[in-house]
Amino acid sequence: MSTRLRRAVAADVPALERLRPAGGQEGLVGVFADWPEETRDPAFLHVIEHGGAPVGFFRIDPAFQDRDPRLPEGAHGLRGLLIDAAVQGRGIARAAFTVLPGHLRACHGLAEVFLSVERPNTRAIRLYEATGWVSAGLPDFEGRSGPELVLRRDLAP
Ligand SMILES: CC(C)(COP(=O)(O)OP(=O)(O)OC[C@H]1O[C@@H](n2cnc3c(N)ncnc32)[C@H](O)[C@@H]1OP(=O)(O)O)[C@@H](O)C(=O)NCCC(=O)NCCS
Repeated sequence: MSTRLRRAVAADVPALERLRPAGGQEGLVGVFADWPEETRDPAFLHVIEHGGAPVGFFRIDPAFQDRDPRLPEGAHGLRGLLIDAAVQGRGIARAAFTVLPGHLRACHGLAEVFLSVERPNTRAIRLYEATGWVSAGLPDFEGRSGPELVLRRDLAP
């Protein structure tokens, strides 16, 4: 079955609200229903589809630079990544992140994107390192649950 990325539409919301983290991951990422209204703009929300069904999502934060003034001017960030517990460990995130650069260039015209990930989240860090993310060269962010590694993905073709 194939994995693809697409920008969300308002009609995706009920399906996205059904997606859940696995046991023990609740502290790593929020469920979609808990996202504040201002973070739900479909223009910045992306759906991960597998076999034609939404199985995951993330958003692009155009104000990511607010997290740290040392980020480049206008830095965008990838936030809130979740793959539904029922289909984790099948290579879906890896497939989605393989096509991520072209998708973000097409949707947002970005040349680079950033993210931060909690240090203990080794599963996500392995995913990012395997799909071309590298250190952003910044000290860890001080997140709500502790230090967060800051990564950068060059989106050039
Ligand atoms: C992190 C997450 C997105 C990975 O999605 P996924 O579709 O399960 O990942 P994949 O199956 O594509 O695997 C990607 C890598 O994750 C690791 N991984 C996947 N399943 C794993 C498992 N059961 N145990 C340990 N590592 C695993 C592997 O390193 C894998 O790389 P590989 O292909 O070299 O083996 C998913 O686990 C998730 O939604 N986690 C909760 C939310 C979260 O942590 N978001 C990131 C916040 S920064």
